Amino acid sequence: MISPAQVEQYQAQGFLIVPGFAEDSECDALRARAEKLVHSFEPAEIRSIFSTNEQNRIADDYFMSSGDKIRFFFEENAFLPDGSFKQAKERSINKIGHALHDLDPVFECFSRSEKIKELAVAIGFAQSYLVQSMYIFKQPNIGGEVICHQDSTFIYTEPTDIVGLWFALEDATIENGCLWAIPGGHKRGLKSRWLRSPTTGRMEFDVYDPEPWPENELVPLEVNKGSLILLNGLLPHRSFENRSPRSRHAYTLHLMHADANYPADNWLQRSAGLPFTGF
Ligand code: FE2
Repeated sequence: MISPAQVEQYQAQGFLIVPGFAEDSECDALRARAEKLVHSFEPAEIRSIFSTNEQNRIADDYFMSSGDKIRFFFEENAFLPDGSFKQAKERSINKIGHALHDLDPVFECFSRSEKIKELAVAIGFAQSYLVQSMYIFKQPNIGGEVICHQDSTFIYTEPTDIVGLWFALEDATIENGCLWAIPGGHKRGLKSRWLRSPTTGRMEFDVYDPEPWPENELVPLEVNKGSLILLNGLLPHRSFENRSPRSRHAYTLHLMHADANYPADNWLQRSAGLPFTGF
């Protein structure tokens, strides 16, 4: 699946691009399935938005209890002042999360495919759990930015070692909001953790290193449809707004080691009826 040299490259720079990992037909099947899920979602009562700029304020119950569900989050810029959509519902969704890989047969089949298992083994995640899945739309014109962060801030484990699998379901370019990352930035330690405060019960950031990211070191990870980008959980990465007329759909999975400690004050929790499972 990937060579020892690629694994070395992943360890050195904290990310790895694997072109052509997914077939066009697999990308199209996931896209069609997401479209169907959005189509059947009735947003009349639930209008939760996703914003990385105001993570604490927007951590509503709908988001916080979505770890073992399939839920829909809107772009911050999706609404007019009167609460109606600026563009169609299908063009307003930011993402679907966070248990597609367990609850939807199409996403489950892809997420637990032999080639993903082989890849997990190759990068040292033979005994691992699938923690979360997200379908990210990065909508034309209104696709919001995701500010520079480390995934381990949100999926914290002890030891701190997770991997994100980012599948490009369409070409991702600078124009439509591709990922950007700081090569080697995973070696600089974890800057913060997002956890539930034992005193207030609210989510807050525990900051270990207040220095801002050296964003001048970011490089764009432009990839073709079907590419997989592996991201070390400690790698600083971000994406900019999509102001182009083209969407930038992606599917993501995160893996943790099965023997790692997963704290109870992480935001994403599973109910007893749907524990983490993996390979
Ligand atoms: Fe991320």
